Amino acid sequence: MEEATNSFSDDNLLGKGGFGRVYKGTLRSGEIVAIKKMDLPSFKEAEGEREFRVEVDILSRLDHPNLVSLIGYCADGKHRFLVYEYMHKGNLQDHLNGIAEVKMDWPLRLKVAIGAARGLAYLHSSSAVGIPIIHRDFKSTNILLNTNYDAKISDFGLAKLMPEGQQSCVTSRVLGTFGYFDPEYTLVSCLHIKSMSEVSIKLDIILLFKYYPFSSLQQTNQQCAV
Ligand SMILES: Nc1ncnc2c1ncn2[C@@H]1O[C@H](COP(=O)(O)OP(=O)(O)OP(=O)(O)O)[C@@H](O)[C@H]1O
Ligand SMILES: [Mg+2]
Repeated sequence: MEEATNSFSDDNLLGKGGFGRVYKGTLRSGEIVAIKKMDLPSFKEAEGEREFRVEVDILSRLDHPNLVSLIGYCADGKHRFLVYEYMHKGNLQDHLNGIAEVKMDWPLRLKVAIGAARGLAYLHSSSAVGIPIIHRDFKSTNILLNTNYDAKISDFGLAKLMPEGQQSCVTSRVLGTFGYFDPEYTLVSCLHIKSMSEVSIKLDIILLFKYYPFSSLQQTNQQCAV
């Protein structure tokens, strides 16, 4: 991993998330990849380890053009690495915020929305692993774009496999990102496949109006949720 990322140099840094940094890397075969170097301080070591295992377990069983591919992983002592296909255009949120060079016109937004919806539909159908999978962290930083602006869903560490034959289940903890939750899931901890339709609509609202599902109203010190 060190060799591939030039010793995790800042020049190779692609981004930073809640569980560490992601670097651009080149494997010995010449293949360009994205390497997530998990940073697990002791207070969230158990949570990070669980997410690492779920990510490897679920993503290695999935294969769809609208899901990011897991190329490999490495667990060596306390070190944890995940190796993904490299997504040249980064995450959707940066594009909507105007950080990326290309302006997102309507046809491009529609293409991204359809791609992300196809990825979700594959997860919810039982064709992937025989039972539906609920992602639980579907948001604009987890929608990545390749050179053709095909959308691919990433980050399966919080994903949940639905109990056989069920469309919903009660969970012990509500997991995900604040602002994107389905309100019913938050209130009664009951996760339903339809919860993801709710989240998907929020992503469409972001794509249409660039209105984030949760924002602070500066003057009133209040917060506003879609
Ligand atoms: N396969 C990839 N190809 C290219 N860039 C990537 C890839 N995976 C992640 N990135 C970049 O690295 C950034 C950090 O990713 P990471 O998944 O660690 O955090 P996040 O999704 O932004 O936030 P959070 O941890 O809150 O979910 C992403 O926003 C994206 O820009
Ligand atoms: Mg992510």
